[in-house]
Formats: sequence, C-alpha cells, structure tokens
Amino acid sequence: MMQVSQRSSETPLDDSNWRTVIQENASVLAAPLSNSAHHSSILHSSPSSLSDTRFLPTMSTQTQPQSQQQEPLTFPSHHAALIQPYLPPVASSSSSGSSSGITPFPHVTLTYAHSLDAALSLAPGVRTALSGSQSKAMTHFLRAHHDGILIGAGTAVADDPGLNSRLVFLEDDNTEVSLAARQPRPVVLDPRARWEVHEGSKVVVLAREQRGLGPWVLVNSGTVVDEGRRKVLEAVGGRYIPLEARREGERFEWEDVLRALKREGLGSVMIEGGGDVINSLLAPPVNRFVDSVIVTIAPTWLGQGGVVVSPPRTAGENGKPAPPVRLTDVTWCPLGEDVVLCGRVSR
Ligand SMILES: NC(=O)c1ccc[n+]([C@@H]2O[C@H](COP(=O)([O-])OP(=O)(O)OC[C@H]3O[C@@H](n4cnc5c(N)ncnc54)[C@H](OP(=O)(O)O)[C@@H]3O)[C@@H](O)[C@H]2O)c1
Repeated sequence: MMQVSQRSSETPLDDSNWRTVIQENASVLAAPLSNSAHHSSILHSSPSSLSDTRFLPTMSTQTQPQSQQQEPLTFPSHHAALIQPYLPPVASSSSSGSSSGITPFPHVTLTYAHSLDAALSLAPGVRTALSGSQSKAMTHFLRAHHDGILIGAGTAVADDPGLNSRLVFLEDDNTEVSLAARQPRPVVLDPRARWEVHEGSKVVVLAREQRGLGPWVLVNSGTVVDEGRRKVLEAVGGRYIPLEARREGERFEWEDVLRALKREGLGSVMIEGGGDVINSLLAPPVNRFVDSVIVTIAPTWLGQGGVVVSPPRTAGENGKPAPPVRLTDVTWCPLGEDVVLCGRVSR
C-alpha cells in the first residue's frame, strides 16, 4: 500500500490510502476505510483528549495566535464510510490533472453547522461553537479531502478561523504523518480586502508552523490592497488574487469564482460559510454548482437575531412562492449529540 506520507500538499489525495487514527485510551489504531466494517466494533470515536466546547459562544480575538491550543482530531472509519459517497471523487483533485479535465469548475461541497432554528451564529460577528467533538472531527476529515476551503469575508473577520485540518494520519508503522501533508488551501472571498490579515491571524500562524497553507484572498481587481497585509500573506505562501466583477459595483458571479479556483488548480472546494455565502449558493440557479451538502445540526436553538441559513424563495407556478432548493440522495448520520445530514442538490 502506498504510504500517505509520500504525498506532499501538491500530490493527489488518494482515498484508497488514507487512514484515520483512532485513539482508545492510550492505544492508537490505524484503520483503512476499506476495512471499516471489520474494525468498527473495536473503534471508539470520542477521544478523551478532546474538550467539548459546544454551545459556548466566544467573541473572536484577532491578535492571539491559537494554534498551540489545537489538538489533533480523530474520525473513526465507520463514520467516514457514511460520509465517503459525498466526498469529491479522487479524480477531481487538482493535482491528479483534472484541472485540464472536462468541467471548468471544482467539485463543491457546501458544509456548515447550524442550530435547530437554522442559525450559524448568535449574531453577526459572534463566533458560536455549535458542533460537538465528533462532528468537529468530521469537519477536519472533510477538510483533509478537499483541495480548498472557502469562506466569506464576514467569517474571516468575525471568527479568525484556522482553516486547516487537524486530522491525524498514520504510516503503516504507526508513525504520524505530518499535518502539513494533507492541508487544504484556505480561500477568503473578500472583494474589498476588508479582512485585516496580520501575522497573528490564526491561518497565518498555522501556515508559518506548516500546519496549514497560506490563504488566497479573492479581491475585486479594482481594490487597492494594503502592502503590509500582502507581505504577511506572501510570507506564508498566500496571496491576493484579483477577480473581475461582471458589472462595476456588483458581486462576483459564483461561476467566475469557481472557474478561477479551478484555474488556480483547486479540483475540489469545501465552502464553509458564513450565512451570506451559504444563502447565495443555495439559491437557484447558482445551486447547480453545489455537488454535495453536509450540514451538522446541533441540538440547540440560538434564538432570534442570529445569522440564519434561509436562501431567498423563488417564484413557482402562478407566481406563488416555491422552495428554492431540496436535497436528494440523503443520508442522516448521528454523531454524538449532533446529526449530520448529507445530500445532493435535487436538479
Ligand atoms: N456555524 C457555521 O458552520 C459557520 C460557518 C461559517 C461562518 N459562520 C458564522 O457566520 C457569520 C458570518 O456570516 P456573514 O453572512 O456575516 O458573512 P460571510 O458569508 O462569511 O461573508 C459575507 C461577505 O463575503 C463577501 N461575498 C460573499 N459573496 C460574494 C460574492 N458573490 N462576490 C463578492 N463578495 C462576496 C462579501 O464581502 P463584502 O461585504 O466585503 O463585499 C460579503 O459581505 C459569523 O458569525 C460566523 O461565525 C458560522
């Protein structure tokens, strides 16, 4: 079997080769996905080292590097097997050569966590932890299987997110594979360059520590970018990427965003939010670009005033309101106290 460690960040993700690490008390087990049924009876999914910070909203800070607080995460094979059908095909990985393939767009997975009242956060700008430890580990599993992670400027400003994968992989001899080996490219949709990225931004710290990649920031081609911020990005392998809006003063078309990312070599992109980004992507006809939707539903209500997932309604027959989007090919996976819903956009 090919070793995971033979990959660099530029080599393809090969799902036949990845391994999840399962910690059971002090022992560490490696479990190939293909053997998940065989292993599932002996695997535990809640490593005791993970602290459960669910439902504890915290104001984000922009100055405190937090990477040292990050612990490796584990995701058991029997859960991975449920998610697997919704992952990008291996051939969609940019590095496998598909950027010159048939579709000009990356595989798009839309994924986020929301409350029972469909809220992503308590209020705009308030970082709100929703996922339990197991669904958080799933997010990191998903990140390890995509070439890029995209967020909107609102999330970059509010959350100071790390946008790396903390999933641990093992070699055949049980030595850990470097976290740098399976990192997605963070992408921030920030047409006006309002995200004040600096040396202490979490994503920058992680990239400097080689536990993540330097972020790409998609800016409007007319935007003048602060030179200090540009240097911060470039020092960790990130950069500003200018993109034309089709009409002056208007937003980018998603088609143009996704085409640009594919052109830059991303064969698969996981879109994590926030509300503005998710709602616009779920609205027809844009939702045709979404291949998979993976939603974590947490057993809590956040109340009124939150950032809510609720795409604009469309007009159906006779001008009556119609649902904008429905999922098909649906799987529900209980993960701890959360439920994860996987599906594809019904065409
Ligand atoms: N629970 C979760 O899974 C989750 C995940 C992510 C975020 N969140 C939460 O979501 C909240 C942030 O959501 P949000 O709605 O305020 O912001 P957002 O969706 O992260 O970002 C919105 C911004 O992105 C830019 N943008 C979006 N679409 C664009 C397009 N087509 N073309 C050009 N620019 C585009 C715009 O920037 P400009 O305004 O500069 O034009 C827009 O204001 C935070 O509270 C965060 O904690 C939760």
